[in-house]
Amino acid sequence: MVKVCITGTPGTGKSKIAKLLAKELGWKMVELNELAKEKGCIAGYDTKRDCKEVDVGELAKVVGKLEGNLVLESHFAHYMPCDAVFVLRVDPKELKRRMKKRGWKEEKIKENMEAEITEVCKSEALEEGKKVYEIDTTHKKPEEVVEEILKVINPYLR
Ligand SMILES: Nc1ncnc2c1ncn2[C@@H]1O[C@H](COP(=O)(O)OP(=O)(O)O)[C@@H](O)[C@H]1O
Ligand SMILES: [Mg+2]
Repeated sequence: MVKVCITGTPGTGKSKIAKLLAKELGWKMVELNELAKEKGCIAGYDTKRDCKEVDVGELAKVVGKLEGNLVLESHFAHYMPCDAVFVLRVDPKELKRRMKKRGWKEEKIKENMEAEITEVCKSEALEEGKKVYEIDTTHKKPEEVVEEILKVINPYLR
């Protein structure tokens, strides 16, 4: 059983890449936010961001019991038990473009750009002491990013 995490600042392409990667591998993709809701792993409410706060510790216990090969996706995926963590990175200017295209609010864009510049996900992932691979998606097509991830995880599959 191999568990691979896709993390990164919102807008870096996690959902897109995780979906493609899971399809390529024939594995199941787990949207951790959905799983948290489904299993009631909610710690509270984030009034500033107007969304539920995931109980990451409780969710990690749930993920630890999941069977089979999995692609886990979320900006906190690096806190889950797993074999490898992929941190998707993107040039902040390109991140801004991607978020604007999706019509995200100015405040959210600013917050995410700041998180990308200060490498929040990457440093959190490194602090966890897991195998961390950073992938710059700025000038790559989603298929090329998946290709790069597959090269890294091939040895894990043997
Ligand atoms: N490698 C890429 N190159 C260009 N655009 C991308 C790439 N990856 C994702 N995108 C686009 O960026 C946006 C954000 O992707 P998404 O997967 O929703 O990010 P996240 O799940 O990290 O918030 C989407 O519109 C997606 O099509
Ligand atoms: Mg997403």
